[in-house]
Amino acid sequence: MTRNLYCIRHLALAATLSLVALLTAAAHAQDTPGRVPNLPDTPYAYANVPLPPHLAVIQTNIPKDNPITDHGATLGRVLFYDKRLSANNTTACAACHLQEYAFSDPQQFSTGFAGAKTPRNAMGLANGRFFQADHFFWDARVKTLEELILLPIQSPIEMGSTLERAVAKVAAAPFYPPLFAKAFGSPDVTPERIAKAVAQFIRAMVSYQSKYDEGIATGFRNFTGQEYFGMQLFENQALRCARCHLTDTQILIFPSNNGLDVVYADKGVGSITGDGFDHGLFKPPSLRNAALTGPYMHDGRFATLQDVLKHYSSGIQSHKNLGSFLPEKGVNLTARQRDAIEAFLHTLTDTAFITDPKFSDPFAKPQ
Ligand code: HEC
Ligand code: HEC
Repeated sequence: MTRNLYCIRHLALAATLSLVALLTAAAHAQDTPGRVPNLPDTPYAYANVPLPPHLAVIQTNIPKDNPITDHGATLGRVLFYDKRLSANNTTACAACHLQEYAFSDPQQFSTGFAGAKTPRNAMGLANGRFFQADHFFWDARVKTLEELILLPIQSPIEMGSTLERAVAKVAAAPFYPPLFAKAFGSPDVTPERIAKAVAQFIRAMVSYQSKYDEGIATGFRNFTGQEYFGMQLFENQALRCARCHLTDTQILIFPSNNGLDVVYADKGVGSITGDGFDHGLFKPPSLRNAALTGPYMHDGRFATLQDVLKHYSSGIQSHKNLGSFLPEKGVNLTARQRDAIEAFLHTLTDTAFITDPKFSDPFAKPQ
């Protein structure tokens, strides 16, 4: 009798233990490992994109030793969406850079692998290839994309891993070595190769199919009267938006101050250089897809484009480093002018870009 009871208890214990093991395995599989990316037989075209002439002429930061190749950017895409790169297999780059929001985060601050929040807003990534050297992150602290890629992986807030661990986990997933071989000629996994592949993928994110691009090709006959008026205001000398947000990619060449505060809690470039002349200087992303990348500014303080336009209209603070193109008291836009600029900014939305399968999650279940 006693012996029987013991046996039953023993069996129950064994059953519980194997159930726990099963559940753990299932939870693990859901978290990442085991998942295999779903890739097309012929890679998507990343290297030779038919950019329209107005974008093809703009200088890029593509380095000689890391040109974009279709296989390189394919590997970069898989890594960008792989939670393995984080310490606890929960957080991929794409957790904070979402394609449907032009690779920005709709949250004011992003949530990292262990639940902590980032101190700044995660900006969109479109058109990063057109940034001049020295100008990545809001405080422009990083010179090249290759250098940047390895930082979030090791950030104690964002992904919390180490390069050693990330490389070991990537090398242990059976599908990776062949992807590295296609991209770089041999299956070896190194931090440098991870950085190069993801940098290629990000440089491949060119947004060139907006209504604005169509407009350039057609003399803006596709624009409404309001959109055209808004574009004139954006480019107009008095408002000077386009003096800072330059070229047909609407990027800022040099970090600048747009008068958000008199005293900045986050000193931007100044927090890196310690130079008072750099306090409150920031490098925003390209305004491409701006209608999708809110909230706005380095700290995501403005929820909507209307809030941004109200700032430029009447909220500018006379900071000692205020960008010389901005009038100290703002530009006093009427509601009609604000609406027109907003309508123009909407013409920079590129639906093809945010739905293009070549930028989508390869680990997602096929539809
Ligand atoms: C937990 C959220 C989070 C994760 C995960 C994350 N990022 Fe970011 N990313 C941010 C934030 C926040 C910023 C702005 C940081 C700053 O400027 O100080 C940023 C900025 C960037 C920029 C700069 C863009 C520009 O215009 O200067 C790039 C590029 C970038 N991230 C790529 C990546 C890549 C690649 C990964 C994965 C290896 C990644 N991010 C993972 C939140 C995240
Ligand atoms: C003196 C240069 C300058 C001028 C002129 C300027 N901006 Fe900006 N803009 C900036 C800087 C710098 C930032 C980022 C500031 C920050 O985050 O602290 C920015 C940010 C933005 C953002 C938010 C981007 C994002 O993703 O968060 C929008 C939208 C914008 N500007 C639109 C405009 C419009 C519209 C005008 C004209 C009314 C204009 N800007 C004029 C320098 C300028």
